[in-house]
Amino acid sequence: MNPTPPLSKTHSYNTYKKKHTPIITSKAKQKMSGGKKKNMVVWLYKVITITVTVASVALTLTEAQKEADFKCSSEIATCRSLTDYKSPNVTTLKEIETLFGVKHFLDLLGANNFPSNTKDNFKVEADQVVKVPFPCKCGNGTGTSNQIPRYKVKPGDTLDGIARNRFAGLVKYQQIQTANKIPDANNITAGETLWIPLPCSCDKVDGSSVIHYAHIVEADSTIQAIAQQYGTNQQTLLKINGIDDPKSLQAGQLLDVPLPVCNSSVTSDSLDFPLLVPNATYVYTANECVQCKCDSTSNNNFMLQCEPSELKPINRWSVCPTMECSKNVLIGNTTTTSTDSCNSTICDYGGYNSRNISMVNATQNTCAVAPSGSDSGATGSSLSGSVWNKLLILIHFLLFFVYLL
Ligand SMILES: *[C@@H]1O[C@H](CO)[C@@H](O)[C@H](O)[C@H]1NC(C)=O
Ligand SMILES: *[C@@H]1O[C@H](CO)[C@@H](O)[C@H](O)[C@H]1NC(C)=O
Ligand SMILES: *[C@@H]1O[C@H](CO)[C@@H](O)[C@H](O)[C@H]1NC(C)=O
Ligand SMILES: *[C@@H]1O[C@H](CO)[C@@H](O)[C@H](O)[C@H]1NC(C)=O
Ligand SMILES: *[C@@H]1O[C@H](CO)[C@@H](O)[C@H](O)[C@H]1NC(C)=O
Ligand SMILES: *[C@@H]1O[C@H](CO)[C@@H](O)[C@H](O)[C@H]1NC(C)=O
Ligand SMILES: *[C@@H]1O[C@H](CO)[C@@H](O)[C@H](O)[C@H]1NC(C)=O
Ligand SMILES: *[C@@H]1O[C@H](CO)[C@@H](O)[C@H](O)[C@H]1NC(C)=O
Ligand SMILES: *[C@@H]1O[C@H](CO)[C@@H](O)[C@H](O)[C@H]1NC(C)=O
Repeated sequence: MNPTPPLSKTHSYNTYKKKHTPIITSKAKQKMSGGKKKNMVVWLYKVITITVTVASVALTLTEAQKEADFKCSSEIATCRSLTDYKSPNVTTLKEIETLFGVKHFLDLLGANNFPSNTKDNFKVEADQVVKVPFPCKCGNGTGTSNQIPRYKVKPGDTLDGIARNRFAGLVKYQQIQTANKIPDANNITAGETLWIPLPCSCDKVDGSSVIHYAHIVEADSTIQAIAQQYGTNQQTLLKINGIDDPKSLQAGQLLDVPLPVCNSSVTSDSLDFPLLVPNATYVYTANECVQCKCDSTSNNNFMLQCEPSELKPINRWSVCPTMECSKNVLIGNTTTTSTDSCNSTICDYGGYNSRNISMVNATQNTCAVAPSGSDSGATGSSLSGSVWNKLLILIHFLLFFVYLL
């Protein structure tokens, strides 16, 4: 496969025009006797150029209007989800935390694998992509963020401006309008609070629990590259996003990327069950007494790695409860390494309730290969642009045809 470089539409058209305009006009000079016919061709060329430019703008607008609608067939399910956010302006992690109503700052750090001592005034550059965790709720075949983020309308705000600028196009204004039952999209009142329904899902994928991540497609990206980067495969990505043609992928589009998660010892009676932690992220749980991270590169067979956080607990706990499997063997400590160098017993985090934290002695096989969803060999595909090029070629053919007449 020879991936076509995803040029911006107007750019590719202008390049094309520069290359081809002189050919047509010089040919016209040779073949035509009267200037009248030539003028007509030039005039037609201009008309078509304008039409193409207008069509190009219109096409960009219709593309931008496409709503991200993630499928979620599990009824009344709630789960954790992630979205990319590309701030249009320089901002801070604190502002992003506030904008999205992220409950705990550490959740924002963990989702991005930022060091846990990162300050909340950490600067985020314009156009830098930050992953934001949020709770998801499913219903009517689709998933949306569960009643957050909440945005207080400021004087001069428009619904479209809130969708397009404040939330960087993660939702369309129509979705905010529907979610908040606003009768007239042009009549919103400063001071009223709107729920911004971000797309998400809680569905299992091929029988496995995953975290659905709304990924903003970058220019130059392909389905194959995205699948590889996030440990999933192309067929899955195409299927859950309802994409038939991988070439139809657009820069800026929101793609539902199911992230594989680490296996854990957390039991179903635990308040944080199922503790789903995607690769290359960490979370704080058990009222922030325990830190758990998922790192597929650590050769531990994609098992969640938990240890005491050494933070002050949140909520009603004044101190963190004991986290020992046996005397001086804490969560995260390896207890035995048998002669078989592959197996080791670890004191693992087993969950928590309102009063205590539970531990289990877990055997980990550190030799087995971590499950990987990545595939290879399938055809790569680049962002669309080819359709546009074909259209331009067609237009030039038509022009040439007109000229022959
Ligand atoms: C599903 O749709 C029905 C009717 O349109 C609506 O009443 C209900 O609130 C929706 N449920 C959810 C979870 O959005
Ligand atoms: C970004 O900055 C511009 C110019 O300062 C401002 O008009 C716009 O409202 C800002 N956008 C956001 C989302 O803060
Ligand atoms: C806008 O909505 C408010 C109530 O939310 C209403 O009182 C007002 O008349 C509306 N304005 C227009 C121009 O429709
Ligand atoms: C997990 O994340 C790391 C770091 O981003 C990456 O190198 C690795 O390929 C990922 N593994 C899977 C299975 O996605
Ligand atoms: C995850 O853990 C469960 C229970 O310990 C086990 O049955 C399952 O095989 C594990 N899955 C992977 C992929 O290691
Ligand atoms: C873990 O195993 C040790 C013996 O190796 C035992 O004393 C301890 O009670 C076990 N702890 C748990 C939580 O099962
Ligand atoms: C047990 O875990 C604690 C906390 O993570 C750590 O400080 C300590 O060094 C570990 N002990 C051993 C023997 O690995
Ligand atoms: C290592 O663990 C595997 C399963 O996790 C088990 O089948 C095997 O018997 C263990 N080997 C030893 C020496 O404990
Ligand atoms: C934790 O609390 C539950 C009930 O709240 C209790 O049944 C259990 O024994 C406690 N476990 C420990 C290790 O204290």
